[in-house]
Amino acid sequence: MRMYDIILKKRNNKELSTEEINYFVNGYTKGEIPDYQVSALLMAIYFNKMSRRETSDLTMAMVNSGDILDLSNIQGIKVDKHSTGGVGDTTTLVLGPMVASLGIPVAKMSGRGLGHTGGTIDKLESFEGFSVEMSEDKFIDNVNKIKLAVVGQTGDLAPADKKLYALRDVTGTVDNVSLIASSIMSKKIAAGADAIVLDVKVGSGAFMKNKEDAFLLANEMVEIGKHIGRNTIGVISDMDQPLGLAIGNGLEVKEAIDTLKGNGPEDLLNLCLELGANMVVLAKKANTKEEAKAMLMNTITSGKALEKLKEFIKAQGGNIASIDDTDKLPKAKYVVPVVSREEGIVHKIHAENIGLAAMELGAGRATKESIIDLAVGIVLNKKRGDSVKKGDVIAYIHSNDEGNIQKCSERIIENYIIKNEKLEEIPLIYGVVE
Ligand code: URA
Ligand code: CA
Repeated sequence: MRMYDIILKKRNNKELSTEEINYFVNGYTKGEIPDYQVSALLMAIYFNKMSRRETSDLTMAMVNSGDILDLSNIQGIKVDKHSTGGVGDTTTLVLGPMVASLGIPVAKMSGRGLGHTGGTIDKLESFEGFSVEMSEDKFIDNVNKIKLAVVGQTGDLAPADKKLYALRDVTGTVDNVSLIASSIMSKKIAAGADAIVLDVKVGSGAFMKNKEDAFLLANEMVEIGKHIGRNTIGVISDMDQPLGLAIGNGLEVKEAIDTLKGNGPEDLLNLCLELGANMVVLAKKANTKEEAKAMLMNTITSGKALEKLKEFIKAQGGNIASIDDTDKLPKAKYVVPVVSREEGIVHKIHAENIGLAAMELGAGRATKESIIDLAVGIVLNKKRGDSVKKGDVIAYIHSNDEGNIQKCSERIIENYIIKNEKLEEIPLIYGVVE
């Protein structure tokens, strides 16, 4: 087999065989096929697209390019949740304890944040002493005992995706539905998931800027799941404004704790109930989503989910005093209100730019090497649909550096679109693909 022929075949809009897909994925992972040939193939895929079969084959070739986590010693159906990336998205910290307290195993491999999106591991490190370093045996043991554990990347999972994603990033070939779908699904499958709930975000803070593309991506991933025997459900949710109110690591942990105590923002709670209900149904612990939602609500009102959070944080070395008293979480030196210069209704809060503003305060990483500050971030005081008067506080900046407050404040004001006209409603959940 020759890479040249594979490139020509795709350039001429023909379907690649399973063997051809395996050949280029393996060859590229091993360093036997050069970047320039794979770049040409990716561009041909970008323009001529892939069939469902090719997309499933690409997914499995990437899964098989490295280690596959063996979670067979964990009892029960392991349902993983994955978000395509948003701003202020604290769902994992809320959902994990809720779902685990129903006896469903949550074996989560998480990452750190990059750019305007945050990572679950960074957030969890707001608990003093908390660690994601543990052996695979300990991880499995914790999930069996507590039903919830979070580790960092272990092993060499889907190395082909790592290389291909980096190459796509510099060759203008990221935003192809087959390539995104196979990239995400390969990592979830290599991480050992039996079933997968995908939170596909749509809006200014998301990969997918419009509803049609988001449904297309969700459909593609659900079909891959079907093809390879992993039940997959895609929830399409709004990311045109940040989720909840808090953006920043310690601030989002506080928001998650508040939500588990029954005092969280409505959109965050509702998204958690929708995603969680799908997880509970896939884990076969409820027959209908309505039943599952009632069970999940009960984990909050009974205090069980909050207890589960404590058990989990403690098992991974974290100080749980800050769960009862959130004042003990990392705190910024300055908390400064941002006031509106206009009057009207909030029409839009540009999620990506607010995420970037929080990043510049130190809440996120501009590069992989950046060091983040767990205490800083932005807490919104007004959300879409709220009316504001001149002088009303629209947000609070939490900063440890007096010098960056003015710029951040300007940035927040620029990215709040306030108009004196009726607002077109945007749903939190656009739909579910199963
Ligand atoms: N996230 C991924 O993991 N892969 C993509 O291709 C796009 C988003
Ligand atoms: Ca939030």
